[in-house]
Amino acid sequence: MPRFPSSTREVPATGGVPRHVAIIMDGNGRWATSRHLPRVAGHARGVDAVRRTVEACARAGVEYLTLFAFSSENWRRPADEVSVLMRLFITALEREVGKLSDNGIRLRVVGDTSRFEPRLQELIGQAEARTAANSRLTLTVAANYGGRWDLVQATRALLAARPELAAEPSRIAEDDIAAHLAMAWAPEPDLFIRTGGEQRISNFLLWQLAYTELYFTDTWWPDFDQAELERAFESFRARERRFGRTSAQLAAGAQA
Ligand code: IPE
Ligand code: IPE
Ligand code: MG
Repeated sequence: MPRFPSSTREVPATGGVPRHVAIIMDGNGRWATSRHLPRVAGHARGVDAVRRTVEACARAGVEYLTLFAFSSENWRRPADEVSVLMRLFITALEREVGKLSDNGIRLRVVGDTSRFEPRLQELIGQAEARTAANSRLTLTVAANYGGRWDLVQATRALLAARPELAAEPSRIAEDDIAAHLAMAWAPEPDLFIRTGGEQRISNFLLWQLAYTELYFTDTWWPDFDQAELERAFESFRARERRFGRTSAQLAAGAQA
């Protein structure tokens, strides 16, 4: 069973500060191109925005921050850009994990990491182990992640754990699938942010975004900062999360 309420089955608690923020960090390439720099310069500057955002979220009291760093479809990019992204991931892990650890941040990586080079897989394992006991903020990096990959791997894992369900598929419930998703240990995101101007999900957390509040900004990821984050939080605070109910029910204090 998942540890947290599912937004389509129970009504999760809501509050002023989003407990889980999920971000599609988009616009690195356009940030660089607009400055007549190679696209990869945008990715390098994007790492600074990651640092700022992790710090700002930790200060604000966010418990889970999930960042989309590389999608299942990003392998389609030119090989040299993919290779720079992998280098940046390696360097960031080598340089930043000590600081994350000192700041009480737990690092998790979700996605099909088996396709990464051994050195990167090793660093991911070490970083997760080193920060496992931290509890101030869980920073999840989605790398070679896709929402469809996640649903396929969850289905496979469920049937491997309970093969009898194949003969009786009507017994499969939402919670069975949710329990095998790559982020089954986290609540669903409250707030989704996408920078860079596109208004799409691009195969991010398809299942978990069912009732997440969506926020889009034209700001390119390397320019994202605390003020931008606060604007997103302000928009979030102004939303009425109804989870299928009516406003009148909410006003009457309905809990279910
Ligand atoms: C996001 O920035 C980073 C990754 C997808 C790895 P982009 O590289 O997609 O930047 P744009 O969208 O081309 O500007
Ligand atoms: C989404 O950005 C993936 C990441 C930010 C890692 P993309 O730039 O790959 O998305 P599309 O191709 O514009 O939908
Ligand atoms: Mg993009």
